[in-house]
Amino acid sequence: MSTRTPLIAGNWKLHNTVAESQALAGGVRKRVRDGLPCQVVVAPVATSLVPVRETLAGSAVGLAAQNVYWEDSGAFTGELSPALLLDVGCTHCIIGHSERRQYFGETDAGVRKKASALLVHKIVPIMCVGESLEQREAGKTLDVVLGQVEAATEGLDAVALAPLVVAYEPIWAIGTGRTAKAEDAQEVHRAIRDHLGALKGESWADTVRILYGGSVKPSNADELLAEPDVDGALVGGASLSADNFIPIIDAGVRRAES
Ligand code: 13P
Repeated sequence: MSTRTPLIAGNWKLHNTVAESQALAGGVRKRVRDGLPCQVVVAPVATSLVPVRETLAGSAVGLAAQNVYWEDSGAFTGELSPALLLDVGCTHCIIGHSERRQYFGETDAGVRKKASALLVHKIVPIMCVGESLEQREAGKTLDVVLGQVEAATEGLDAVALAPLVVAYEPIWAIGTGRTAKAEDAQEVHRAIRDHLGALKGESWADTVRILYGGSVKPSNADELLAEPDVDGALVGGASLSADNFIPIIDAGVRRAES
């Protein structure tokens, strides 16, 4: 169907002690054998990054941070840099999540600086965009989402952006049990790809993985992942148990094999 390798990412948000994170990572790694045609990444809290890296050692499961600051080092109390994430084995980092935009003042300009800094360090940014319920009901979904994508990639060309992953997460679908209809997700994903193509070049845009996030669970993953431009999932609640997360990985494998 697509030459893009599906990516299933678990965003554990502010959950799990070190022991709980390691137990969960251990459950995930059992499913992710070498050669699985679907990429899998987990994003524990910062205090669990090192222990989870140890649990995942030698496996194909990627390790993601949930946030980063764009400077390498300095007087920035409380922050973590791309260099430090690389130092502990992070392969990916979530940026621009709507919870960070809403509660911690993250802006498109900040997301762009974070993306740029991560890319310099060869860490794959998983850049989140998405509209609120109010914006959707006002018919502004594409304006908002494409505006976020454009602002967060401004000044970066396709070469610099090469490994970028975009995650479309409608805010009204996060943690609510309400999922976007597969065809509505597809419409936004296609629009994101077309917009990236117009801005940075179509051949690159065709390679960009665009994940869907917002109440993804085993019962709806196949339907979402059957859409041509839904290249994977960014999973919150359902990633907190291997019993729920593994069937979503299986859906990613089915997409790869379809
Ligand atoms: P839920 O899957 O819990 O809706 O969370 C989605 C999300 O925010 C992933 O980043």
